This record gives sequence, structure tokens and C-alpha cells, in this order.
Amino acid sequence: MNILITGCNGQLGNEMRVLSAQYPQHNYFFADIMTLPETDVPVYILDITQQDDVNTFVQEHHIDLIVNCAAYTQVDKAEEDEPTAMRINADAVQWLGIAGCKVIHISTDYVFSGKEYIPCKEDDPVAPNTAYGRTKLIGEQKLMEVNPQAIILRTAWLYSSFGNNFVKTMLRLGIEREQLGVVFDQIGTPTYAADLAQAIFHIINAPEWHAGVYHFTNEGVCSWYDFTIAIHQLANTLLPESKQIHCRVQPILSSAYAYKTPRPHYSVLDKSKYKQTFQQDIPYWTEALDRCLRLLLIP
Ligand SMILES: NC(=O)c1ccc[n+]([C@@H]2O[C@H](COP(=O)([O-])OP(=O)(O)OC[C@H]3O[C@@H](n4cnc5c(N)ncnc54)[C@H](OP(=O)(O)O)[C@@H]3O)[C@@H](O)[C@H]2O)c1
Repeated sequence: MNILITGCNGQLGNEMRVLSAQYPQHNYFFADIMTLPETDVPVYILDITQQDDVNTFVQEHHIDLIVNCAAYTQVDKAEEDEPTAMRINADAVQWLGIAGCKVIHISTDYVFSGKEYIPCKEDDPVAPNTAYGRTKLIGEQKLMEVNPQAIILRTAWLYSSFGNNFVKTMLRLGIEREQLGVVFDQIGTPTYAADLAQAIFHIINAPEWHAGVYHFTNEGVCSWYDFTIAIHQLANTLLPESKQIHCRVQPILSSAYAYKTPRPHYSVLDKSKYKQTFQQDIPYWTEALDRCLRLLLIP
């Protein structure tokens, strides 16, 4: 298959690029809104909000499948500029949906209210309470309207050795600060983007195409506080004595943290449908975190 991967400079896009080397049976076209100088493969410039450019690209390169890793992911900024987030997370997803090929699109736990205390299933009621969540939900809806054969994978709490994310921030703050308060009343599942990329390849290479919405995160549940403790503890198993992290991490309530945008209190996704449909196990979150930290910390 000829596979177009949009947003290839992001966390997930980079992991797709790394993993694609293990699946040489496909031809890959990596694209983003701009190119980066240090990539080992050519990166095409493709702004997914430009419908004509999307159509031309798909036709010229005979694309069979688009994996849409491009998105407007800045949750706070989306509150101030919802129209831009809407163009990228919703309108553009529609252009991808009608470009004439299969689509795997990535969405988010933010489509749910995060007020329930039961892991969310794919068909649970949606009720986003942020601009980001609203735009992602409309993207899902537009895509399914124009391309009911599409696959939507909702994920959450993504991190990677590429890009900026919570893991890198907590490693930095762990070194810089003597103590740190991290919220313990928001519960979810940290998800290594490399494992999400692996799930996407399982879907691509499955004997049959199973259209619909799926949930994918790593296994397990924790708070941001537990996540931070695990990052520091696992990092210390990999770092030399002289570089150990000694920061005292304290649990705080969300109400004590000045969030610009409301965050879901409980955003655990039920992954049964993905596991049953594609007959795959999913790595536990600390095991996945350990793999990422090894890449980040071991020279
Ligand atoms: N990060 C999370 O915690 C999280 C959680 C749940 C779901 N998700 C979803 O998972 C997917 C992947 O997230 P990620 O963290 O890998 O995102 P990311 O690191 O922000 O990467 C997104 C990429 O898309 C590019 N992009 C933005 N606008 C574009 C456009 N108009 N045309 C082409 N490319 C464009 C971005 O470029 P610029 O950087 O230059 O804008 C960036 O390279 C997204 O759908 C996201 O909504 C993420």
C-alpha cells in the first residue's frame, strides 16, 4: 500500500516513521506543515487544511491509506483560537475523509466529559468541555459522515522520546527543583506514542479492515502524581549516582493548580474492542515508560 502519514513531525508521526522501517511491504509518504532539517526520510510539505493540496497529493502519489497524525493539540491555546483548531481538527479531517482513500484518524479522550468513574467505551455519550475536545469530536463526526469506512483511534496522555511532553517536563523539573506539586485527582493512562504507532500498524496489517471507533492507551491507571513518581523512580534506575533525581513530589488537588482549561477528572478508556478485534495485548504503562526513558536517558 501507499501510505500517507500526516503530521509526521509530531510525537506520533515520528514514532510512525521509526516503526515503518519494520514494515517495508508498504511505501510511505511522510508529510507535515513544514519540514525539519534532521529527518532521515524526505518530508513532504502538506497543510491538511488545504483541500486542493490534499487531493492533489493523494492523486499524484496514488495514496491508498492516510494515517492522520496531524492535529492542533494545544489544549489551552485552542480556548483562545477555536476557529484555527476547528480548521485543523475538524474541517481538514473531512478533506482527508473525501480524498478517495482509506483513513485512520487519531482522536482523544477529551471528547468525553471526564466526569464518570467508569472506563469509557467507544459508544458512551460524548460531552467535551473544552474547545480542543469540541473540535476533535466534530472532526470524528465529519469523518464518519463522509467516510463511514474510516477508523478512528481515540487515545490519551501521549508521550514519546520525540517532541515536548509530560515525561520530558517532569524529568527537567525533577532535576531543577527540590520539590514539586503534581495533581493526584485526575486519573488516566499514560500512553507511549511508540505503542500507539504499533497498534496502528496492527490495524494496517490486519487481514481485514474493521471500520469504526476504537480506544487505545497503554494498560493500567494512575494519576499525574503517580506518573511523576514513576518517571523519577524509573529514571533513577537508569541514571548514574551523580545525576539522580532527588526532587520531593507532593500530591496536590486540581483546585490548587491554576489550569486555564478544565481537565477531565477521569479519562480512562476501555480498550476491550481494540484488543478483541485485532487480537492484541497492550503493554502496561510503567513497562512502556521504562522503554521510553531508556531511549531518553541512556546514551
Ligand atoms: N498529545 C496528547 O497527549 C494526546 C492525547 C490524546 C490524543 N492525542 C491525539 O493524538 C494525535 C497525535 O498527537 P501528537 O501528540 O503526536 O501531536 P503533535 O506532537 O502536536 O503533532 C501534530 C503534528 O501535526 C502538525 N500539524 C499541525 N497543523 C497541521 C496542518 N494544518 N497540516 C499538517 N500538519 C499539521 C503539527 O505541526 P506544528 O507543531 O508545526 O503545529 C505537528 O507536527 C492527535 O490527533 C492528537 O489530537 C494526543
